[in-house]
Amino acid sequence: MTAQLVSTTSTSIDLDFKKLPQHVAIIMDGNGRWAQQRGLPRLEGHRQGANTLKEILRTCKNWGINTLTAYAFSTENWGRPLTEVGFLMNLFERLLRKELQEMREEGVRIRFIGDLSPLPSSLQQEIRYSMAKTRHNQTINFNVAINYGSRKEIVKACRDIAEKVALGELSPDTIDENTISQYLYTSANPDPDLLIRTSGEMRLSNFLLWQLAYTEMYVTDTFWPDFDLQQFEKAIISYQKRDRRFGKITAMPTLSF
Ligand code: IPE
Ligand code: IPE
Ligand code: MG
Repeated sequence: MTAQLVSTTSTSIDLDFKKLPQHVAIIMDGNGRWAQQRGLPRLEGHRQGANTLKEILRTCKNWGINTLTAYAFSTENWGRPLTEVGFLMNLFERLLRKELQEMREEGVRIRFIGDLSPLPSSLQQEIRYSMAKTRHNQTINFNVAINYGSRKEIVKACRDIAEKVALGELSPDTIDENTISQYLYTSANPDPDLLIRTSGEMRLSNFLLWQLAYTEMYVTDTFWPDFDLQQFEKAIISYQKRDRRFGKITAMPTLSF
């Protein structure tokens, strides 16, 4: 109850609820450093990071943000020690089992993006089950990127499109930007308006390369487990001050020559 109150109460008068981003994507980075800073095993950082995600999801839902996409495990993260990879896979599975009921009640539609085929079969089962059970929910879209790599996603889209062409079901000259978008894992959602990366790294780490073409970026030094409601508000306020020009001279349609 307390957690709910904390996460729904805006503390800032600067936040404009009429100008919220509709789709927020997050690179949840810094779990390991958060733990190391406290003399804890890295795994504690992941555990704490899961709580942060839950709070941010709830806040997005309560504020009316339509889509949240969270980067949970990259195609490159398999290169970590086996114990860490195993812990993360277990954590995803346990969380899904524990949180599904609440997500169902709160109207969360969960989707997983990435190549799910190399994941442990028990996790794949939970994933399929949670997607099926929430597929009619409409309050918020919650995308979790697991074994996600943007370059692999684009390669897959190219292959799928090429196959359609080979079958004579698609003509090369009809392929445009929309076609590519439709073949990506994120086809159901508009591109993100805001990308947040925690822990200060100024890179995309193979996340949503196509989809982020005109997304506003916000990087904070805060480690993911410490990213709370106030931090999230700060990110949104920063977003609201941006002039999204999309290549034009001004965001306001006032200039004409
Ligand atoms: C992000 O935190 C979580 C995953 C990549 C799974 P990290 O584990 O990358 O934490 P740092 O960057 O090492 O501190
Ligand atoms: C990006 O974080 C992936 C996730 C948050 C899941 P990493 O910690 O893997 O990224 P790099 O290695 O710093 O680029
Ligand atoms: Mg990291």
